[in-house]
Amino acid sequence: MLLEIKNVSTAFKVEGQYYNALDDVSLEVNENEVLAIVGESGCGKSTLATSVMGLHNEKQTKTVGSIKFHGKELVGAKNEQLQQIRGKKIGMIFQDPLSSLNPLLRIEDQVKESLTLHTQMSEKEKSARVLELLRQVGLEKPELVARQYPHELSGGMRQRVGIAIAVACKPELIIADEPTTALDVTIQAQILDLLLAIQAENHAGIILITHDLGVVAEVADRVAVMYAGQVVELGTTNQIFNDPKHPYTRSLLRSMPQADEKQEELYVINGMVPSLKNLKHTGCRFASRIPWMTASEHESEPQMHQVAVGHLVRCVCWRDFKFPDEEEKKEVDHG
Ligand SMILES: Nc1ncnc2c1ncn2[C@@H]1O[C@H](COP(=O)(O)OP(=O)(O)OP(=O)(O)O)[C@@H](O)[C@H]1O
Ligand code: SF4
Ligand SMILES: [Mg+2]
Repeated sequence: MLLEIKNVSTAFKVEGQYYNALDDVSLEVNENEVLAIVGESGCGKSTLATSVMGLHNEKQTKTVGSIKFHGKELVGAKNEQLQQIRGKKIGMIFQDPLSSLNPLLRIEDQVKESLTLHTQMSEKEKSARVLELLRQVGLEKPELVARQYPHELSGGMRQRVGIAIAVACKPELIIADEPTTALDVTIQAQILDLLLAIQAENHAGIILITHDLGVVAEVADRVAVMYAGQVVELGTTNQIFNDPKHPYTRSLLRSMPQADEKQEELYVINGMVPSLKNLKHTGCRFASRIPWMTASEHESEPQMHQVAVGHLVRCVCWRDFKFPDEEEKKEVDHG
């Protein structure tokens, strides 16, 4: 197994107190596999990515649990050990390419940085590799782009540069945090094709973070659905799209625009993802959105339960869940 995340919780310090943005997350990623992470804004997707990369400020953040890459523990690992892995074995494409690029460095020098850190290439070899990478990510005129600064590029071009940096050392795991969100549809498709081509070449595993379920259906092998820092459902793409169980997964899928009909009203279960400070410290973070169950019906410490091979659902509220219109339909059927 490539990556094994077990019982991981990450807390941020806000006004002197720690709040869990990730709560007891367990996931695995295999070689050659695309694992999609979906869920509303603020549910902890990027926190999961940065926890794996070990990118948090230790004074402001606490990560507990276990994150093993090829069996080696990353939680609590020394910075030198993380640096050996980060950028070389694990490449990350950041949600906001502009903020992850250095505004003061030419593109060539930024792409070269990880080659300098992780390879023995000569300057000449590195320059050639930079051009090869820029060409590989579909940038026309790579010689020109190499000499430019980030602000001289469009959003799509910057995202391509971000991908070139992430894959420069042929990583075994690529974490792509919303790699296509800021881009228009045709460029989105090109970027996804590019990621898949790189994956095929290197047999890499990919964690694809996105809120775009259309993209997930197209490219993911498995899907983890997150709500308020927790995984509420995990399964193959087929299981999640064709046999979703958890009310949250089902409402996410309902709000997905269908190609063959005009978008229906958004089906969202009442309520919002609570902000970090308003999250409950104990018990289930979803309970306030399930008003039809009495307090005693909720599991006191909700666990993931297996409903089919490889298909896990948190707790019990999915069992009797019906959307209001499904209830009506049932009554009509009976009447
Ligand atoms: N450095 C930080 N300090 C304090 N709180 C943080 C920090 N980073 C994230 N958070 C909070 O943690 C929660 C999870 O944030 P995160 O960025 O992981 O969500 P996300 O799922 O990636 O959202 P989006 O879809 O908007 O990118 C949010 O409530 C966010 O405000
Ligand atoms: S049934 Fe379980 S998962 Fe659902 S809201 Fe209650 S405690 Fe949470
Ligand atoms: Mg994010």
